[in-house]
Amino acid sequence: MSIADFQPAIWTSSSNSALKISLVSDNAIQFSPVFTYPIYGDSEQIYGYQDLVIHLAFDSVTFKPFVNVKYSAKLDEGRDDVEGRLLSFLPKDDVVLKDEAKWVDCFQKEQETYKLPPQDCLIDEYLLDGEAFAVYRTKVTDPSTKELHRRIQIFSLLFIEAASYIDQDDPNWEIFWLFSKDHKQCIGYVTTYKLWHYTGSASFDQPENIKYRARISQFIILPPYQGKGHGSHLYEALFSHWIKDDSVTEVTVEDPNENFDDLRDRKDLQRLYENRFFNQVAKDGEVSQEWIESNRMRYKIEKRQFNRLVEMIMMHNNS
Ligand code: ACO
Repeated sequence: MSIADFQPAIWTSSSNSALKISLVSDNAIQFSPVFTYPIYGDSEQIYGYQDLVIHLAFDSVTFKPFVNVKYSAKLDEGRDDVEGRLLSFLPKDDVVLKDEAKWVDCFQKEQETYKLPPQDCLIDEYLLDGEAFAVYRTKVTDPSTKELHRRIQIFSLLFIEAASYIDQDDPNWEIFWLFSKDHKQCIGYVTTYKLWHYTGSASFDQPENIKYRARISQFIILPPYQGKGHGSHLYEALFSHWIKDDSVTEVTVEDPNENFDDLRDRKDLQRLYENRFFNQVAKDGEVSQEWIESNRMRYKIEKRQFNRLVEMIMMHNNS
């Protein structure tokens, strides 16, 4: 070995580049994470390996996980525990390590009995390019999807900034699942939380009248399925569900990013347009707070978002 072989840069890899995620069905689709800092630290770098590749694969139906770490050389001392760190974010005793044939055998067996959530959890269905998709709502504690959530939740860390794992024992968390009906593949999911909304002493004294704010926490369409309209369908399914639910007063979103804001604006504006709300917005900008508040509550949109939408509609009406 020469002196150059001991330079730290040679032994340092970007964790975002080294981690390769695959979704496997008849073929495998591979993609990279956007964030790995929750797993490998703020610098998103891994020390102690050369030519490091971390394969993290999932069967696209059961999401049975597979991990295989490869490298051409490793340091004997001081190297990061690549595999151990990743495993600490995956369900214990569920991951198949290195033995690909065993993994394939495991998920094929699981697929034989794998079922979508029960029919009473179904909240919406749609067709896209001739394929049927369905949205289901389950509690995080629901046994029918608990295992799937344990396996899939790492996608929130890898694709949503500042995401963290939710408390799987708190029944106030609900998950909205989007599945391909024909292939039983999970296309995306949304974690949501119902926050108690104090609306005055009259309703406080009547438990059957308790009101909630519905909060969208983590919203994700898995990378191979993005940009096809699924996110828009899923968001609309959630919103329609909450509009019908009398206990929900408004829909809020936790830390939306730019892409989500864009999707949300488009769908909220479309809903308001279809409800002929555009015609009710004055051109001259003279709107009272009472008018804004009563319409906001009618459409269950949070304050800041509703004000933005009204501004956009005014600009549209004046153009
Ligand atoms: N063909 C081509 N393009 C289409 C089609 C179609 N049939 N349908 C929609 N599109 C376009 C839309 O017009 C839109 O284009 P634009 O971005 O130029 O406006 C784009 O595709 C995205 O719309 P959808 O397909 O409905 O959205 P998608 O399914 O990709 O979901 C989302 C969007 C949720 C942001 C997804 O990209 C994602 O999960 N990203 C990673 C995680 C993430 O960032 N989540 C949000 C974090 S914030 C939070 O969680 C609260």
